Amino acid sequence: MLFRCISSARAFLGVVSAEACTKCSNGKIITSFRPAQRLFATNVQCPTVGEIIEQWSNRFKNEGIPEPVESIEHIVAHVIGTSKILDVVNARNERLTVDQHNMLDSLCECRLSRMPVQYIIGEWDFRDINLKLVPPIFIPRPETEMLVHYTLKALSTSGNERREILEIGCGSGAISLAIAHADKTVNCIAIDSNLQACELTKINRDRLDLKDRVAVVHATLKESGTIELSDVLNGPKDLDLTSRSFDFIVSNPPYVPTKQIPGLNPEIKLYEDLRALDGGDDGLKVIKPLLKYAATALKPGGRLFLEVDTTHPEYIQFFTTKYPVLKLQYEHTYKDFCNNDRFVEVLKLP
Ligand SMILES: C[S@@+](CC[C@H](N)C(=O)[O-])C[C@H]1O[C@@H](n2cnc3c(N)ncnc32)[C@H](O)[C@@H]1O
Repeated sequence: MLFRCISSARAFLGVVSAEACTKCSNGKIITSFRPAQRLFATNVQCPTVGEIIEQWSNRFKNEGIPEPVESIEHIVAHVIGTSKILDVVNARNERLTVDQHNMLDSLCECRLSRMPVQYIIGEWDFRDINLKLVPPIFIPRPETEMLVHYTLKALSTSGNERREILEIGCGSGAISLAIAHADKTVNCIAIDSNLQACELTKINRDRLDLKDRVAVVHATLKESGTIELSDVLNGPKDLDLTSRSFDFIVSNPPYVPTKQIPGLNPEIKLYEDLRALDGGDDGLKVIKPLLKYAATALKPGGRLFLEVDTTHPEYIQFFTTKYPVLKLQYEHTYKDFCNNDRFVEVLKLP
């Protein structure tokens, strides 16, 4: 099924000049556009894959679309039924069928409307798992793979046999599912305040066959540092997050200070749920309750791994020192690909 990009969103936040694609503006799940067959027609009317890439990357570039070459390569890959860019490179001299070409034009129009390529193709790789992605649920960022890496590293040296992990704010499920996929000895509970995010995590969990070890819970971390349960989706019905304790808590919470939101790219402002990013005035709106909750819910020796804004590690050190009664000890800040302080590790003392 193809969609047209017609709904004007120029006035969105009064900042951007772009049109939102109706495909995602209603927030519904997009079905895959993947064509049934992976073949190329000998239709000489259609340009070759190489010509298509050149034409569309020039058009994207002229219209100020970020990552013009990558954008068209991923769209072509999707249309020809592969996720490997190498397959696209190898198909440079092939021609698409008329149907594939029409589909490609339609998807490229969506990219011109600044729709993220991840939503256009409806899936994306995160570490070694593939996730279905649906607007407006937060698209996992590459740096969050590092948060998973540091968590897995700590897991590999922690003694317990079957570790219990809680993720707060699971979005598409990227963190919990990547951890559970990589380490067969963990059980995860993934919560999110957004029911649509929980449903997407559940779909991704079932696709990865992790139903036995990942429970998805529609629940909200409140300002008080408690968790309010809405629903347990296909998990144990007696789940009590107030009395339960965990070996690890991990989270990539909303942490962007509100004043930075208007400066974000149209891809984010038009298509992603801004509640997944907006961390309030200081970006700490969810992080403060998260620290309080971790103090009560982590087992002695348990660890909290957080993705944060570069200004937050200092606050977290200050917080743990100021409230020794919480028995939280700041351990380390790790840097992201751009050498920014991005991930914080906190230890629960006995
Ligand atoms: C930055 S996104 C991270 C999503 C996913 N973990 C990832 O890294 O791709 C933050 C997520 O936290 C959820 N969230 C925001 N506030 C929350 C709260 N108070 N309690 C639970 N989840 C919350 C949002 O709905 C969103 O899905």
